[in-house]
Amino acid sequence: MPSNAATRAARLSVAPMMDWTNRHCRYLHRRMTRQALLYTEMVTAPALVRGGALHLLEHDPSEHPVALQLGGSDPAELAQAARLGEQAGYDEVNLNIGCPSDRVQSGCFGAVLMERPALVADCVKAMRDAVSVEVTVKCRIGVDDQNPETVLPDFLARVSAAGCNRFAIHARKAWLQGLSPKENRDIPPLDYDLVQRMKGLFPALHLSVNGGITTLDQAQAFLDAGLDGVMIGRAAYHDPPSVLCAADRRIFGTGVDSDPVTVVHDMLPYIETHLRTGGRLNQITRHMLGLFTGKPGARAWRRTLSEGAHKDGAGPELVLRALDHITALAPVPAPV
Ligand SMILES: Cc1cc2nc3c(=O)[nH]c(=O)nc-3n(C[C@H](O)[C@H](O)[C@H](O)COP(=O)(O)O)c2cc1C
Repeated sequence: MPSNAATRAARLSVAPMMDWTNRHCRYLHRRMTRQALLYTEMVTAPALVRGGALHLLEHDPSEHPVALQLGGSDPAELAQAARLGEQAGYDEVNLNIGCPSDRVQSGCFGAVLMERPALVADCVKAMRDAVSVEVTVKCRIGVDDQNPETVLPDFLARVSAAGCNRFAIHARKAWLQGLSPKENRDIPPLDYDLVQRMKGLFPALHLSVNGGITTLDQAQAFLDAGLDGVMIGRAAYHDPPSVLCAADRRIFGTGVDSDPVTVVHDMLPYIETHLRTGGRLNQITRHMLGLFTGKPGARAWRRTLSEGAHKDGAGPELVLRALDHITALAPVPAPV
């Protein structure tokens, strides 16, 4: 099994999420975990290759290990996009075979490609031939009326034969007709057991399970049961302290837990640079709203940022004012 940095980091990863895991979000998440693998939002190969949208590849050097997720189904175009991703410095290029949105179906990429494993294998082979960083795949267990029990092992066999050794499997089907992308993340039932059995069938593959995982306890249970990695999406975004702040110590056995108040202070220089270069505060703080989920003062923290961060001239002082709601309520340490 390959042992590069991205593969080691894939023991715990934050899932690719459109409009959410952009560079500001990844920078924030990296303040909380040094070890976990971070994914970009999906970037389509046509946008990079035909549209020349190279700004979509921008990221901060501190984000590593970081993986670029691509969408597409044209092997030559994906190969070219993967090359651009490697040149931009990404540690891994991932192919999206899991996203069910209409837009993605109409372009023939995403989950609909679960029905075309030979084409996916061609895409993976072309990408593998084009880059030396690892090429990985994120998929579902099947779509529509496919039988996951037969479809998933066939998919893994064919795509791994083309050179993909690492998969993240969202453990539910995508229903391509009748469900919105959001419903497709909740309604089709989860089948973790099937993903676990895939590890028995393909012991040499690195398999991460994804879908509905919300705590590090759950993540650790999957690792203990023999899976190689756990990918967490929504919970990492909405409640990053629960998922990310203790991840290095608990999942990777290294480092100390990060503290959300310190994380806020760590973000201030980044925010200042962003504002100096013409950015707006809420572009960063929208990803920080969940930093104190479940803590006293969390609602006032969110409200202060939501109401003020989009206004002209809003800057670090607003963030510090919001933080006062948390620190004012924090327990006073006992005298020694
Ligand atoms: C807002 C949002 C955007 C998403 N965008 C993508 C995407 O660009 N590529 C992808 O493969 N999956 C995407 N997903 C799916 C997630 O990567 C993940 O598979 C799904 O949310 C299930 O994991 P979770 O239950 O831990 O959130 C998205 C999910 C959300 C909530």
